[in-house]
Amino acid sequence: MAIEDKITELNKLREQAKAGGGTKRIEAQHAKGKLTARERIDLLLDPGTFEEIDSFVMHRCTDFGLAEQQFLGDSVVTGYGNIKGRKAFIFAQDFTIFGGSLSKVASEKICKAMDLAAKNGAPVIGLLDSGGARIQEGVDSLVGYGDIFTRNTLYSGVIPQISVVLGPCAGGAVYSPAITDFIFMVKGTGQMYITGPEVIKAVTGEEVTLEQLGGAMTHATKSGNCHFVADTEPECLEMVRRLLTFLPQNNMEDSPVIDTADDPNRTDEELRYIVPTDPAKSYDMKQIITKTVDNGEFMEVHQKFAPNLIVGFARLGGRSIGIVAQQPRFFAGVIDVDASDKGARFVCFCDCFNIPLITFVDVPGYMPGTDQEYRGIIRHGAKFLYAYAEATVPKICVITRKAYGGAFIVMSSKSLRGDINYAWPTAEIAVMGPEGAVNIVFRDTIAKSENPEETRQRLIQEYRDKFANPYIAAAKGYIDDVIDPAFTRPKLIKALDMLQNKADTNPPKKHGNIPL
Ligand code: HXC
Repeated sequence: MAIEDKITELNKLREQAKAGGGTKRIEAQHAKGKLTARERIDLLLDPGTFEEIDSFVMHRCTDFGLAEQQFLGDSVVTGYGNIKGRKAFIFAQDFTIFGGSLSKVASEKICKAMDLAAKNGAPVIGLLDSGGARIQEGVDSLVGYGDIFTRNTLYSGVIPQISVVLGPCAGGAVYSPAITDFIFMVKGTGQMYITGPEVIKAVTGEEVTLEQLGGAMTHATKSGNCHFVADTEPECLEMVRRLLTFLPQNNMEDSPVIDTADDPNRTDEELRYIVPTDPAKSYDMKQIITKTVDNGEFMEVHQKFAPNLIVGFARLGGRSIGIVAQQPRFFAGVIDVDASDKGARFVCFCDCFNIPLITFVDVPGYMPGTDQEYRGIIRHGAKFLYAYAEATVPKICVITRKAYGGAFIVMSSKSLRGDINYAWPTAEIAVMGPEGAVNIVFRDTIAKSENPEETRQRLIQEYRDKFANPYIAAAKGYIDDVIDPAFTRPKLIKALDMLQNKADTNPPKKHGNIPL
Protein backbone atom coordinates (compact mmCIF):
# COMPACT_ATOMS: atom_id res chain seq x y z
CA MET A 1 0.00 0.00 0.00
CA ALA A 2 1.41 3.39 -0.96
CA ILE A 3 2.01 5.89 1.86
CA GLU A 4 -0.80 8.08 0.53
CA ASP A 5 -3.21 5.19 0.96
CA LYS A 6 -1.89 4.52 4.44
CA ILE A 7 -2.47 8.18 5.33
CA THR A 8 -5.99 7.94 3.94
CA GLU A 9 -6.58 4.88 6.11
CA LEU A 10 -5.14 6.66 9.15
CA ASN A 11 -7.39 9.66 8.56
CA LYS A 12 -10.39 7.36 8.15
CA LEU A 13 -9.64 5.68 11.47
CA ARG A 14 -9.25 9.08 13.12
CA GLU A 15 -12.62 10.17 11.83
CA GLN A 16 -14.06 6.92 13.12
CA ALA A 17 -12.59 7.58 16.58
CA LYS A 18 -13.97 11.12 16.57
CA ALA A 19 -17.45 9.84 15.73
CA GLY A 20 -17.70 8.30 19.24
CA GLY A 21 -20.81 6.18 19.69
CA GLY A 22 -22.35 7.43 16.42
CA THR A 23 -24.88 10.02 15.29
CA LYS A 24 -27.87 8.56 17.10
CA ARG A 25 -26.16 8.48 20.48
CA ILE A 26 -24.71 11.95 19.95
CA GLU A 27 -28.22 13.22 19.23
CA ALA A 28 -29.47 11.51 22.38
CA GLN A 29 -26.65 13.19 24.34
CA HIS A 30 -27.64 16.60 22.97
CA ALA A 31 -31.31 15.89 23.66
CA LYS A 32 -30.42 15.43 27.34
CA GLY A 33 -28.94 18.94 27.28
CA LYS A 34 -25.37 17.61 27.37
CA LEU A 35 -22.40 18.21 25.09
CA THR A 36 -20.18 15.40 23.83
CA ALA A 37 -16.75 14.71 25.31
CA ARG A 38 -15.02 16.34 22.34
CA GLU A 39 -17.27 19.40 22.33
CA ARG A 40 -16.44 19.85 26.01
CA ILE A 41 -12.71 19.56 25.41
CA ASP A 42 -12.97 22.19 22.66
CA LEU A 43 -14.61 24.62 25.10
CA LEU A 44 -12.16 23.90 27.92
CA LEU A 45 -8.92 24.21 25.99
CA ASP A 46 -7.49 27.09 23.97
CA PRO A 47 -8.66 26.62 20.35
CA GLY A 48 -6.63 24.15 18.32
CA THR A 49 -4.34 23.07 21.18
CA PHE A 50 -5.78 19.62 21.96
CA GLU A 51 -3.41 16.71 21.35
CA GLU A 52 -5.19 13.41 21.76
CA ILE A 53 -3.49 10.24 22.91
CA ASP A 54 -4.70 6.63 22.88
CA SER A 55 -7.40 7.17 20.27
CA PHE A 56 -6.83 3.65 18.91
CA VAL A 57 -7.27 1.89 22.24
CA MET A 58 -10.07 -0.70 22.28
CA HIS A 59 -11.59 -2.73 25.08
CA ARG A 60 -10.55 -6.35 25.58
CA CYS A 61 -13.83 -7.80 26.78
CA THR A 62 -15.37 -10.68 24.82
CA ASP A 63 -18.25 -11.55 27.14
CA PHE A 64 -21.90 -10.57 26.59
CA GLY A 65 -21.36 -9.99 22.85
CA LEU A 66 -18.91 -7.18 23.46
CA ALA A 67 -16.37 -8.59 20.99
CA GLU A 68 -18.60 -7.30 18.20
CA GLN A 69 -19.06 -3.90 19.77
CA GLN A 70 -15.80 -2.02 19.42
CA PHE A 71 -15.24 1.73 19.41
CA LEU A 72 -11.86 3.31 18.73
CA GLY A 73 -10.68 5.04 21.87
CA ASP A 74 -13.32 3.27 23.99
CA SER A 75 -15.33 5.37 26.43
CA VAL A 76 -12.92 8.15 27.31
CA VAL A 77 -11.07 10.82 25.32
CA THR A 78 -7.65 11.69 26.77
CA GLY A 79 -4.80 14.04 25.97
CA TYR A 80 -3.38 17.46 26.69
CA GLY A 81 -3.63 21.02 25.53
CA ASN A 82 -3.41 24.60 26.75
CA ILE A 83 -5.61 26.62 29.06
CA LYS A 84 -4.83 30.33 28.72
CA GLY A 85 -1.45 29.30 27.35
CA ARG A 86 -0.55 26.83 30.12
CA LYS A 87 -0.42 23.05 29.78
CA ALA A 88 -3.23 20.89 31.18
CA PHE A 89 -4.03 17.19 30.90
CA ILE A 90 -7.59 16.10 30.22
CA PHE A 91 -9.72 13.02 30.35
CA ALA A 92 -13.32 13.30 29.18
CA GLN A 93 -15.68 10.35 29.56
CA ASP A 94 -17.69 9.74 26.40
CA PHE A 95 -21.27 8.89 27.35
CA THR A 96 -22.04 7.96 23.73
CA ILE A 97 -19.88 4.83 24.12
CA PHE A 98 -21.32 2.32 26.61
CA GLY A 99 -22.69 5.24 28.63
CA GLY A 100 -19.14 6.43 29.40
CA SER A 101 -18.78 3.38 31.63
CA LEU A 102 -15.29 2.55 32.84
CA SER A 103 -13.64 -0.41 31.14
CA LYS A 104 -10.20 -1.61 32.15
CA VAL A 105 -8.68 0.10 29.11
CA ALA A 106 -10.56 3.34 29.86
CA SER A 107 -8.97 3.32 33.30
CA GLU A 108 -5.55 2.66 31.73
CA LYS A 109 -6.04 5.68 29.44
CA ILE A 110 -7.02 7.87 32.39
CA CYS A 111 -4.05 6.65 34.44
CA LYS A 112 -1.68 7.34 31.56
CA ALA A 113 -2.92 10.93 31.31
CA MET A 114 -2.61 11.35 35.08
CA ASP A 115 0.92 9.93 35.12
CA LEU A 116 1.97 12.27 32.31
CA ALA A 117 0.43 15.20 34.18
CA ALA A 118 2.31 14.35 37.37
CA LYS A 119 5.65 13.72 35.64
CA ASN A 120 5.38 16.96 33.71
CA GLY A 121 3.97 19.02 36.56
CA ALA A 122 0.67 20.14 35.04
CA PRO A 123 -2.93 20.06 36.30
CA VAL A 124 -5.23 17.19 35.37
CA ILE A 125 -8.90 17.82 34.68
CA GLY A 126 -11.49 15.05 34.51
CA LEU A 127 -14.78 15.63 32.68
CA LEU A 128 -17.10 13.03 34.17
CA ASP A 129 -20.19 11.60 32.50
CA SER A 130 -20.45 7.89 33.13
CA GLY A 131 -22.72 4.99 34.09
CA GLY A 132 -19.94 3.70 36.37
CA ALA A 133 -18.18 0.37 36.18
CA ARG A 134 -18.48 -1.37 32.75
CA ILE A 135 -20.95 -3.97 33.90
CA GLN A 136 -19.86 -6.56 31.32
CA GLU A 137 -16.24 -6.41 32.49
CA GLY A 138 -16.93 -7.05 36.15
CA VAL A 139 -13.97 -7.01 38.48
CA ASP A 140 -11.53 -5.66 35.84
CA SER A 141 -13.42 -2.40 35.88
CA LEU A 142 -13.38 -2.20 39.68
CA VAL A 143 -9.61 -2.64 39.67
CA GLY A 144 -9.44 0.18 37.13
CA TYR A 145 -11.15 2.48 39.63
CA GLY A 146 -8.64 1.43 42.27
CA ASP A 147 -5.78 2.40 39.96
CA ILE A 148 -7.34 5.84 39.46
CA PHE A 149 -7.98 6.38 43.20
CA THR A 150 -4.35 5.52 43.97
CA ARG A 151 -3.14 8.14 41.52
CA ASN A 152 -5.65 10.71 42.81
CA THR A 153 -4.15 10.14 46.24
CA LEU A 154 -0.46 10.03 45.30
CA TYR A 155 -0.72 13.15 43.14
CA SER A 156 -2.76 15.04 45.73
CA GLY A 157 -0.70 18.08 46.68
CA VAL A 158 1.62 17.52 43.69
CA ILE A 159 -0.51 18.79 40.80
CA PRO A 160 -3.92 20.47 40.96
CA GLN A 161 -6.65 17.92 40.21
CA ILE A 162 -10.06 19.14 39.10
CA SER A 163 -13.26 17.15 38.53
CA VAL A 164 -16.12 18.44 36.42
CA VAL A 165 -19.30 16.42 36.88
CA LEU A 166 -21.38 16.81 33.72
CA GLY A 167 -23.51 13.68 33.86
CA PRO A 168 -23.97 10.69 36.12
CA CYS A 169 -21.15 9.78 38.50
CA ALA A 170 -22.42 6.94 40.61
CA GLY A 171 -21.38 4.33 43.13
CA GLY A 172 -17.72 4.00 44.05
CA ALA A 173 -16.89 6.15 41.00
CA VAL A 174 -17.61 9.23 43.12
CA TYR A 175 -14.47 8.65 45.14
CA SER A 176 -12.19 9.84 42.37
CA PRO A 177 -13.70 13.35 42.26
CA ALA A 178 -14.00 13.32 46.05
CA ILE A 179 -10.21 13.03 46.41
CA THR A 180 -9.50 15.77 43.85
CA ASP A 181 -9.07 19.40 44.86
CA PHE A 182 -12.19 20.93 43.32
CA ILE A 183 -15.49 19.60 42.05
CA PHE A 184 -17.55 21.56 39.52
CA MET A 185 -21.13 20.52 38.71
CA VAL A 186 -23.78 21.62 36.21
CA LYS A 187 -27.35 22.03 37.48
CA GLY A 188 -29.82 19.50 36.12
CA THR A 189 -27.30 17.15 34.48
CA GLY A 190 -24.37 16.58 36.85
CA GLN A 191 -25.24 14.02 39.52
CA MET A 192 -23.19 12.20 42.15
CA TYR A 193 -24.48 9.54 44.52
CA ILE A 194 -23.32 6.33 46.16
CA THR A 195 -26.62 4.52 45.65
CA GLY A 196 -29.40 5.64 43.30
CA PRO A 197 -33.05 6.37 44.15
CA GLU A 198 -34.23 2.83 43.33
CA VAL A 199 -31.80 1.14 45.70
CA ILE A 200 -32.58 3.70 48.40
CA LYS A 201 -36.31 3.01 48.05
CA ALA A 202 -35.76 -0.76 48.21
CA VAL A 203 -33.48 -0.61 51.23
CA THR A 204 -34.93 2.21 53.34
CA GLY A 205 -38.29 3.01 51.74
CA GLU A 206 -37.21 6.62 51.30
CA GLU A 207 -38.35 8.32 48.07
CA VAL A 208 -36.07 10.89 46.48
CA THR A 209 -35.43 12.21 42.97
CA LEU A 210 -32.01 11.99 41.34
CA GLU A 211 -31.59 15.76 41.47
CA GLN A 212 -32.61 15.96 45.15
CA LEU A 213 -30.29 13.11 45.95
CA GLY A 214 -27.17 14.04 44.06
CA GLY A 215 -27.72 17.16 41.95
CA ALA A 216 -25.42 20.16 41.88
CA MET A 217 -27.41 22.22 44.39
CA THR A 218 -27.63 19.32 46.83
CA HIS A 219 -23.87 18.89 46.85
CA ALA A 220 -23.20 22.63 46.83
CA THR A 221 -25.48 23.45 49.78
CA LYS A 222 -25.99 20.31 51.88
CA SER A 223 -23.14 17.84 51.56
CA GLY A 224 -20.43 20.33 50.61
CA ASN A 225 -19.01 17.91 48.04
CA CYS A 226 -19.35 20.44 45.22
CA HIS A 227 -17.26 23.64 45.14
CA PHE A 228 -18.63 25.36 42.05
CA VAL A 229 -22.10 25.24 40.44
CA ALA A 230 -22.91 26.36 36.90
CA ASP A 231 -26.17 26.65 34.97
CA THR A 232 -24.68 25.42 31.69
CA GLU A 233 -21.70 23.40 30.50
CA PRO A 234 -20.02 26.31 28.65
CA GLU A 235 -20.31 28.45 31.79
CA CYS A 236 -18.90 25.61 33.88
CA LEU A 237 -15.89 25.05 31.64
CA GLU A 238 -15.18 28.79 31.56
CA MET A 239 -15.16 28.74 35.39
CA VAL A 240 -12.56 25.94 35.32
CA ARG A 241 -10.40 28.05 33.00
CA ARG A 242 -10.71 31.01 35.38
CA LEU A 243 -9.86 28.96 38.48
CA LEU A 244 -6.64 27.72 36.91
CA THR A 245 -5.39 31.30 36.46
CA PHE A 246 -5.04 31.52 40.25
CA LEU A 247 -3.13 28.23 40.60
CA PRO A 248 0.45 27.16 39.95
CA GLN A 249 1.08 24.23 37.60
CA ASN A 250 2.41 22.08 40.44
CA ASN A 251 3.63 22.19 44.04
CA MET A 252 7.16 23.26 43.06
CA GLU A 253 5.98 26.46 41.36
CA ASP A 254 4.29 29.69 42.36
CA SER A 255 1.09 30.94 40.75
CA PRO A 256 1.63 33.26 37.80
CA VAL A 257 1.94 36.95 38.67
CA ILE A 258 -0.40 39.00 36.53
CA ASP A 259 -0.30 42.72 35.79
CA THR A 260 -3.73 43.66 37.10
CA ALA A 261 -3.19 47.41 36.61
CA ASP A 262 -4.66 48.08 40.07
CA ASP A 263 -2.50 50.53 42.05
CA PRO A 264 -0.86 48.71 45.00
CA ASN A 265 -0.98 51.95 47.01
CA ARG A 266 -4.70 52.46 46.42
CA THR A 267 -6.45 53.39 49.67
CA ASP A 268 -10.19 53.30 50.32
CA GLU A 269 -11.80 55.44 53.01
CA GLU A 270 -15.11 53.61 52.67
CA LEU A 271 -13.48 50.69 54.47
CA ARG A 272 -13.64 52.79 57.66
CA TYR A 273 -17.43 52.72 57.64
CA ILE A 274 -18.30 49.09 56.87
CA VAL A 275 -18.03 47.73 60.42
CA PRO A 276 -21.10 49.10 62.29
CA THR A 277 -20.56 50.87 65.58
CA ASP A 278 -23.14 48.62 67.21
CA PRO A 279 -21.28 45.30 67.83
CA ALA A 280 -24.54 43.34 67.58
CA LYS A 281 -25.09 44.46 63.97
CA SER A 282 -23.85 42.47 61.01
CA TYR A 283 -22.21 43.60 57.78
CA ASP A 284 -21.05 42.05 54.54
CA MET A 285 -17.43 40.88 54.75
CA LYS A 286 -17.40 40.45 50.96
CA GLN A 287 -17.44 44.24 50.64
CA ILE A 288 -14.18 44.39 52.58
CA ILE A 289 -12.65 41.66 50.42
CA THR A 290 -13.64 43.18 47.09
CA LYS A 291 -12.58 46.70 48.10
CA THR A 292 -9.15 45.36 49.06
CA VAL A 293 -8.13 42.93 46.31
CA ASP A 294 -7.01 43.77 42.77
CA ASN A 295 -9.91 45.19 40.73
CA GLY A 296 -12.41 43.73 43.21
CA GLU A 297 -12.05 40.32 41.53
CA PHE A 298 -12.77 37.49 43.92
CA MET A 299 -13.43 33.90 42.85
CA GLU A 300 -15.37 32.40 45.69
CA VAL A 301 -15.04 28.68 46.40
CA HIS A 302 -17.80 26.71 48.14
CA GLN A 303 -20.05 29.77 47.90
CA LYS A 304 -23.24 27.97 48.89
CA PHE A 305 -21.84 25.79 51.67
CA ALA A 306 -21.30 27.03 55.25
CA PRO A 307 -21.88 30.68 54.25
CA ASN A 308 -20.69 31.83 57.70
CA LEU A 309 -17.17 31.34 56.35
CA ILE A 310 -15.94 32.76 53.05
CA VAL A 311 -13.06 31.17 51.13
CA GLY A 312 -11.76 31.90 47.65
CA PHE A 313 -9.05 33.23 45.40
CA ALA A 314 -8.08 36.77 44.47
CA ARG A 315 -4.94 38.78 43.71
CA LEU A 316 -3.02 41.44 45.58
CA GLY A 317 -0.42 43.38 43.62
CA GLY A 318 -0.85 40.78 40.87
CA ARG A 319 -0.01 37.83 43.15
CA SER A 320 -2.46 35.02 43.72
CA ILE A 321 -3.79 34.75 47.28
CA GLY A 322 -6.22 32.51 49.15
CA ILE A 323 -8.73 34.38 51.28
CA VAL A 324 -10.39 32.98 54.39
CA ALA A 325 -12.87 35.24 56.17
CA GLN A 326 -15.80 35.12 58.51
CA GLN A 327 -19.13 36.30 57.12
CA PRO A 328 -20.94 38.11 59.97
CA ARG A 329 -24.14 38.10 57.88
CA PHE A 330 -24.62 34.37 58.55
CA PHE A 331 -24.81 33.14 62.17
CA ALA A 332 -22.62 36.12 63.15
CA GLY A 333 -19.65 34.40 61.47
CA VAL A 334 -19.51 31.69 64.10
CA ILE A 335 -17.31 28.61 63.43
CA ASP A 336 -19.34 25.41 63.15
CA VAL A 337 -18.66 21.90 61.84
CA ASP A 338 -19.21 22.74 58.18
CA ALA A 339 -17.24 26.01 58.30
CA SER A 340 -14.36 24.11 59.93
CA ASP A 341 -14.30 21.51 57.15
CA LYS A 342 -14.58 24.17 54.48
CA GLY A 343 -11.82 26.32 55.98
CA ALA A 344 -9.46 23.42 56.71
CA ARG A 345 -9.68 21.99 53.21
CA PHE A 346 -9.06 25.40 51.63
CA VAL A 347 -6.12 26.25 53.89
CA CYS A 348 -4.57 22.83 53.11
CA PHE A 349 -5.00 23.39 49.39
CA CYS A 350 -3.34 26.82 49.50
CA ASP A 351 -0.47 25.46 51.57
CA CYS A 352 0.07 22.52 49.15
CA PHE A 353 0.32 24.91 46.23
CA ASN A 354 2.30 27.83 47.69
CA ILE A 355 -0.61 30.27 47.71
CA PRO A 356 -0.31 32.85 50.54
CA LEU A 357 -3.24 33.04 52.93
CA ILE A 358 -4.98 36.29 53.82
CA THR A 359 -7.44 35.93 56.69
CA PHE A 360 -10.11 38.47 57.65
CA VAL A 361 -11.37 37.81 61.16
CA ASP A 362 -14.67 38.67 62.81
CA VAL A 363 -15.52 35.65 64.89
CA PRO A 364 -17.60 35.42 68.07
CA GLY A 365 -16.43 31.83 68.72
CA TYR A 366 -17.56 28.28 68.06
CA MET A 367 -21.23 27.42 67.64
CA PRO A 368 -22.58 26.21 70.99
CA GLY A 369 -25.15 23.43 71.41
CA THR A 370 -25.65 19.68 71.42
CA ASP A 371 -26.17 19.53 67.66
CA GLN A 372 -22.64 20.78 67.04
CA GLU A 373 -21.07 18.85 69.91
CA TYR A 374 -22.67 15.58 68.79
CA ARG A 375 -21.59 16.18 65.20
CA GLY A 376 -18.03 16.54 66.42
CA ILE A 377 -17.21 20.25 66.52
CA ILE A 378 -14.21 19.24 68.63
CA ARG A 379 -12.51 17.20 65.93
CA HIS A 380 -13.78 19.33 63.04
CA GLY A 381 -12.66 22.54 64.73
CA ALA A 382 -9.32 20.85 65.49
CA LYS A 383 -8.94 20.16 61.77
CA PHE A 384 -9.24 23.87 60.94
CA LEU A 385 -6.71 24.77 63.61
CA TYR A 386 -4.35 21.99 62.49
CA ALA A 387 -4.48 23.20 58.88
CA TYR A 388 -3.50 26.75 59.89
CA ALA A 389 -0.80 25.58 62.30
CA GLU A 390 0.72 23.27 59.71
CA ALA A 391 0.66 25.77 56.82
CA THR A 392 4.05 27.26 55.98
CA VAL A 393 2.92 29.66 53.24
CA PRO A 394 2.87 33.39 54.09
CA LYS A 395 0.01 33.96 56.52
CA ILE A 396 -1.35 37.45 57.05
CA CYS A 397 -4.48 38.36 58.95
CA VAL A 398 -6.66 41.39 59.58
CA ILE A 399 -9.00 41.41 62.56
CA THR A 400 -11.88 43.67 61.63
CA ARG A 401 -14.01 43.22 64.76
CA LYS A 402 -14.52 40.25 67.08
CA ALA A 403 -11.74 37.77 67.77
CA TYR A 404 -12.89 35.87 70.81
CA GLY A 405 -11.52 32.86 72.60
CA GLY A 406 -10.30 29.76 70.78
CA ALA A 407 -11.61 31.17 67.52
CA PHE A 408 -9.11 34.07 67.82
CA ILE A 409 -6.30 31.52 68.04
CA VAL A 410 -7.56 29.41 65.10
CA MET A 411 -7.77 32.27 62.65
CA SER A 412 -4.12 32.58 61.60
CA SER A 413 -2.99 33.85 65.01
CA LYS A 414 0.66 34.48 65.89
CA SER A 415 0.81 31.35 68.00
CA LEU A 416 -0.20 29.27 64.95
CA ARG A 417 2.76 30.81 63.12
CA GLY A 418 0.88 33.75 61.60
CA ASP A 419 3.46 36.03 59.96
CA ILE A 420 1.81 39.44 60.04
CA ASN A 421 -1.25 40.08 62.18
CA TYR A 422 -3.08 43.36 61.77
CA ALA A 423 -6.12 44.67 63.60
CA TRP A 424 -8.43 47.51 62.74
CA PRO A 425 -9.19 49.99 65.58
CA THR A 426 -12.66 48.39 65.70
CA ALA A 427 -11.15 45.02 66.76
CA GLU A 428 -12.20 43.38 70.01
CA ILE A 429 -9.71 40.72 71.09
CA ALA A 430 -10.67 38.90 74.28
CA VAL A 431 -11.37 35.53 75.84
CA MET A 432 -15.07 36.00 75.18
CA GLY A 433 -17.67 38.68 74.45
CA PRO A 434 -18.39 41.24 77.20
CA GLU A 435 -21.83 39.80 78.03
CA GLY A 436 -20.58 36.26 78.52
CA ALA A 437 -17.52 37.37 80.47
CA VAL A 438 -19.50 39.56 82.90
CA ASN A 439 -22.14 36.86 83.47
CA ILE A 440 -19.44 34.44 84.58
CA VAL A 441 -16.93 36.62 86.43
CA PHE A 442 -19.47 38.84 88.21
CA ARG A 443 -22.29 36.33 88.77
CA ASP A 444 -22.28 36.85 92.57
CA THR A 445 -21.86 40.63 92.37
CA ILE A 446 -24.81 40.90 89.98
CA ALA A 447 -27.02 38.56 92.02
CA LYS A 448 -26.36 40.43 95.28
CA SER A 449 -26.78 43.94 93.89
CA GLU A 450 -29.95 45.98 94.47
CA ASN A 451 -30.61 46.35 90.76
CA PRO A 452 -29.04 43.30 89.06
CA GLU A 453 -29.81 44.32 85.47
CA GLU A 454 -28.41 47.84 85.95
CA THR A 455 -25.27 46.39 87.56
CA ARG A 456 -24.89 43.87 84.77
CA GLN A 457 -25.14 46.57 82.08
CA ARG A 458 -22.62 48.78 83.94
CA LEU A 459 -20.15 45.93 84.26
CA ILE A 460 -20.59 44.99 80.60
CA GLN A 461 -19.81 48.58 79.61
CA GLU A 462 -16.74 48.60 81.91
CA TYR A 463 -15.55 45.30 80.43
CA ARG A 464 -16.13 46.57 76.90
CA ASP A 465 -14.20 49.80 77.56
CA LYS A 466 -11.30 47.88 79.05
CA PHE A 467 -10.99 44.79 76.89
CA ALA A 468 -12.98 45.19 73.67
CA ASN A 469 -10.16 46.76 71.68
CA PRO A 470 -6.99 45.68 69.87
CA TYR A 471 -4.49 47.50 72.09
CA ILE A 472 -4.07 44.94 74.87
CA ALA A 473 -3.14 42.24 72.31
CA ALA A 474 -0.97 44.78 70.44
CA ALA A 475 0.81 45.78 73.66
CA LYS A 476 1.89 42.17 74.07
CA GLY A 477 2.99 41.75 70.42
CA TYR A 478 0.18 39.32 69.55
CA ILE A 479 -0.89 41.90 66.98
CA ASP A 480 1.84 43.47 64.87
CA ASP A 481 0.06 46.72 64.18
CA VAL A 482 -3.28 48.46 64.47
CA ILE A 483 -4.06 49.91 61.04
CA ASP A 484 -6.41 52.46 59.54
CA PRO A 485 -8.92 50.37 57.52
CA ALA A 486 -8.48 52.74 54.57
CA PHE A 487 -4.87 51.51 54.21
CA THR A 488 -5.64 47.77 54.32
CA ARG A 489 -4.73 47.12 50.68
CA PRO A 490 -1.28 48.79 50.67
CA LYS A 491 -0.48 47.26 54.07
CA LEU A 492 -1.33 43.75 52.86
CA ILE A 493 0.61 44.15 49.62
CA LYS A 494 3.70 45.38 51.48
CA ALA A 495 3.48 42.45 53.91
CA LEU A 496 3.10 39.99 51.00
CA ASP A 497 6.13 41.58 49.33
CA MET A 498 8.13 41.24 52.51
CA LEU A 499 7.13 37.57 52.81
CA GLN A 500 7.91 36.73 49.19
CA ASN A 501 10.95 34.60 50.08
CA LYS A 502 9.54 33.15 53.29
CA ALA A 503 11.06 29.76 54.08
CA ASP A 504 9.59 27.71 56.88
CA THR A 505 9.43 23.97 57.35
CA ASN A 506 7.78 21.34 59.52
CA PRO A 507 9.62 18.53 61.34
CA PRO A 508 10.47 15.59 59.06
CA LYS A 509 7.80 12.89 59.21
CA LYS A 510 5.99 10.45 56.94
CA HIS A 511 2.87 12.59 57.26
CA GLY A 512 0.89 14.11 60.08
CA ASN A 513 -2.39 12.75 61.39
CA ILE A 514 -4.89 15.58 60.82
CA PRO A 515 -8.10 14.98 62.84
CA LEU A 516 -10.63 13.92 60.20
C1 HXC B 1 -22.16 -0.77 30.55
C2 HXC B 1 -23.68 0.92 30.38
C3 HXC B 1 -23.51 1.23 31.75
C4 HXC B 1 -22.60 0.45 32.49
C5 HXC B 1 -24.94 2.60 30.92
N1 HXC B 1 -24.58 1.80 29.92
N2 HXC B 1 -24.30 2.28 32.06
N3 HXC B 1 -23.01 -0.07 29.79
N4 HXC B 1 -21.94 -0.54 31.85
N5 HXC B 1 -22.36 0.72 33.78
C6 HXC B 1 -25.04 1.84 28.53
C7 HXC B 1 -26.50 1.51 28.39
O1 HXC B 1 -26.67 0.13 28.26
C8 HXC B 1 -26.84 2.23 27.08
O2 HXC B 1 -26.37 1.47 26.00
C9 HXC B 1 -25.99 3.48 27.17
O3 HXC B 1 -24.93 3.18 28.08
C10 HXC B 1 -26.75 4.68 27.67
O4 HXC B 1 -27.42 4.34 28.86
P1 HXC B 1 -28.95 4.70 29.14
O5 HXC B 1 -29.38 3.88 30.31
O6 HXC B 1 -29.70 4.60 27.87
O7 HXC B 1 -28.82 6.24 29.52
P2 HXC B 1 -29.67 7.04 30.58
O8 HXC B 1 -31.12 6.76 30.43
O9 HXC B 1 -29.22 8.47 30.44
O10 HXC B 1 -29.21 6.51 32.01
C11 HXC B 1 -27.90 6.67 32.43
C12 HXC B 1 -27.64 5.87 33.73
C13 HXC B 1 -28.07 4.36 33.49
C14 HXC B 1 -28.45 6.48 34.87
C15 HXC B 1 -26.17 5.98 34.05
O11 HXC B 1 -27.49 3.92 32.25
C16 HXC B 1 -27.65 3.46 34.58
O12 HXC B 1 -28.29 3.39 35.63
N6 HXC B 1 -26.58 2.67 34.32
C17 HXC B 1 -26.10 1.70 35.26
C18 HXC B 1 -25.44 2.39 36.41
C19 HXC B 1 -24.79 1.41 37.36
O13 HXC B 1 -25.44 0.72 38.10
N7 HXC B 1 -23.47 1.30 37.24
C20 HXC B 1 -22.67 0.43 38.05
C21 HXC B 1 -22.42 1.25 39.31
S1 HXC B 1 -21.37 0.45 40.43
P3 HXC B 1 -27.03 1.55 24.54
O14 HXC B 1 -26.28 0.52 23.76
O15 HXC B 1 -28.48 1.24 24.72
O16 HXC B 1 -26.82 2.95 24.03
C22 HXC B 1 -19.93 1.11 40.12
C23 HXC B 1 -18.87 0.60 41.02
C24 HXC B 1 -17.68 1.49 41.04
O17 HXC B 1 -19.76 1.91 39.31
C25 HXC B 1 -16.78 0.95 42.13
C26 HXC B 1 -15.51 1.70 42.26
C27 HXC B 1 -14.66 1.12 43.33
